[in-house]
Amino acid sequence: MTRVTCIAPVNIAVIKYWGKRNETLILPLNDSISTTLCTHDLCAKTSVMASPEFTEDRIWLNGREESIKNPRLKNCLLQIRRVARDQTPNVIPESWHVHICSENNFPTAAGLASSAAGYACLVATLAQLYGVSGDVSAIARQGSGSACRSMLGGFVRWHKGVEESGSDSIATQIAPASHWPELRILVLVVSDHKKKTSSTIGMQNSVATSELLNYRAHQVVPGRVKKMEKAIMEKDFTQFAEITMRDSNQFHAVALDTYPPAVYMNDTSHSIVNLIHKFNAAHGQIKVAYTFDAGPNACLYMLESEVPEVVGLIDWAFPAKDMKINVLRGLQTERNVPKESLTGKLEMQPLSAGMLQYLILTKVGDGPQKLEGD
Ligand code: DP6
Repeated sequence: MTRVTCIAPVNIAVIKYWGKRNETLILPLNDSISTTLCTHDLCAKTSVMASPEFTEDRIWLNGREESIKNPRLKNCLLQIRRVARDQTPNVIPESWHVHICSENNFPTAAGLASSAAGYACLVATLAQLYGVSGDVSAIARQGSGSACRSMLGGFVRWHKGVEESGSDSIATQIAPASHWPELRILVLVVSDHKKKTSSTIGMQNSVATSELLNYRAHQVVPGRVKKMEKAIMEKDFTQFAEITMRDSNQFHAVALDTYPPAVYMNDTSHSIVNLIHKFNAAHGQIKVAYTFDAGPNACLYMLESEVPEVVGLIDWAFPAKDMKINVLRGLQTERNVPKESLTGKLEMQPLSAGMLQYLILTKVGDGPQKLEGD
């Protein structure tokens, strides 16, 4: 028997992927850009065992056995085996089956890109097990589109590509995590309930019905991708933050333009948007950016120097005493109680307690890693 264990990161898009031009190959309508989050705080962990004694491939997700017949899963396995047949035919005999165990160290289906980390981890682990080398982001992409971005650390671009086969629809690194070490991400978990409409179904509906989607994909995103790459390379937080917020807002506008509409943000999400704009306005400059995926949870981007003030602000706005799960994982940080000179300018009262479940403070991190000693 042989066994390999890897961990893989979550990624948060600052230019969103929304809409496919090919459902089977998972080819997107537009390029997207993300930051990879530090695996210490959020990650998927996958072990794959291969043995001549296993009679079939099997998979357990967070301790529960799931069907191996899932087409996306089957496809990832098939493709790694296909590459292995050419590259490393002697590492794992073709007749051997695998047992896969995967878990997340954060709630699944919390809209926290758990499928991205999960599929990236699966493909990274299989590649290690079978001794496959080279870029396997195009295989991870076929598990879940956004998973291809979790195959690399730092700041990552997923190119939509032009080939019918999808061979050029891959992820590349814009810059490593060490390029902008001051950047912080504060995840505000509003709800860890499973989302109502999955991203897959939501974007299918948008492709079928939204008029705004094509305008976004073809007229807006190409320009934004260029500006975002420049902002990242120049570590221009103001530009980075404004594009991030505008892109999140436009993605949700497309979701609302879908018929029937896909509503992912809730009242708490909208209060967070309002709070951040008021906070930035009170400071006369953009200090924090928000972005929301296909769910109500917010990811805030800021520089390290702003963390105590922003965490203090969140504490003030969402009184923590009633937080359902008052876990502040990774949040060993100072918090400044906001001064009245600031709260006065916010023109709002603290919101009802219990609206936020917990906070996770993290930074930009590296790509998948093999755990040694396995
Ligand atoms: C809103 O990658 O989960 O998070 O390719 O169908 O598996 P599938 O969808 P998925 O969609 C992610 C959408 C998003 C934006 C993003 O991460 O770019």
